Amino acid sequence: EKDPLTVLVTGAAGQIGYALLPMIARGAMLGPDQPVILHVLDIEPNAETLKGVKMELMDGAFPLLRGVIATTDVIEACKGVDIAIMLGGFPRRKDDNIDLIFKNVGIYKAQASALEQHADSNCKVLVVANPANTNALILKEFAPSIPEENITSLSRLDHNRALNQISENLNVHVGDVKNVIIWGNHSSKRYPDANHAAVNIGVGHKSVKELIADDHWLNTDFISNVQNRGQTIVKARRLSGAFSAASAVCDHMRDWILGTPKGTWVSMGVYSDGSYGIQPGLIYSFPVTCEKGEWSIVQGLKIDEFEREKMDALERELIEEKKVAYSSLH
Ligand code: NAI
Repeated sequence: EKDPLTVLVTGAAGQIGYALLPMIARGAMLGPDQPVILHVLDIEPNAETLKGVKMELMDGAFPLLRGVIATTDVIEACKGVDIAIMLGGFPRRKDDNIDLIFKNVGIYKAQASALEQHADSNCKVLVVANPANTNALILKEFAPSIPEENITSLSRLDHNRALNQISENLNVHVGDVKNVIIWGNHSSKRYPDANHAAVNIGVGHKSVKELIADDHWLNTDFISNVQNRGQTIVKARRLSGAFSAASAVCDHMRDWILGTPKGTWVSMGVYSDGSYGIQPGLIYSFPVTCEKGEWSIVQGLKIDEFEREKMDALERELIEEKKVAYSSLH
């Protein structure tokens, strides 16, 4: 039997946490043969809620779950952690990252230090809390001993939303659609790109561009439907989406650790190495393939003018967010 992995979930008393924890305990993130120990962290005002969440985890009688530590102490939470899922932070009220940066920089700086000192030295981190890319950047900068390739941010929910839009438009199974790309930042400007996407047609694959008669749709409604999906769900549910985000977290970690299927890439916020001309060091969402716990950016995609413009605008936005984050530190 495999040794258990210790998974930290911050903001665990919140909405996404409530959906995510049972998924992890059932093996949806790390596989059906991987035992887990859960460390669940939230802040003092939510300590009672967190206790209730722990009780439900225990009552789930999940065979893979080998222990639960529920705490409001960051250091206790970070001890010996192999995987850290960062949901905790100040909630986004408007669809605006700048306002949130000030509130979250301090939190991510402190949690970075705790992870650096107490987590496993090869700990893999996924930042979900918004502004996700910039929180991840702060975490990377203040946990310099954690390898930079171990710090990522979530763009998989937008990626999955884009797959769904294509699937609905073409009336094909969502599992037959692949290789959309979310470039750059998880912000109101987020850019889903289907120029390189393909659909399994049984006898091989056909490009989405060939299959979609209305090319205009891909550069208009497709993009805005993905950009506005979060708000559309809030209107319907009177709460923001939670299990779709939790499921995307599981997809992100599973593919990162267990590998992406051959011929398939996914979108992840990762530190830029200068690929596609994006400034090195930013946490920017790229198409990546993963193998044996390592991601690599898909190279050589032909970028047209429309894509270039969007990719550069998102780069500028992230440079601006980085500036704001740093200005709030000094
Ligand atoms: P929520 O507000 O229900 O939960 C957040 C939890 O974090 C709360 O329980 C809060 O007490 C806790 N928290 C606040 N400060 C903390 C700290 N310093 N340490 C530990 N915990 C802390 O929010 P929800 O819906 O669960 O979303 C979580 C985050 O994920 C939000 O920031 C949201 O904007 C973001 N998000 C990002 C997505 C993405 O695609 N990147 C998609 C969906 C949500």
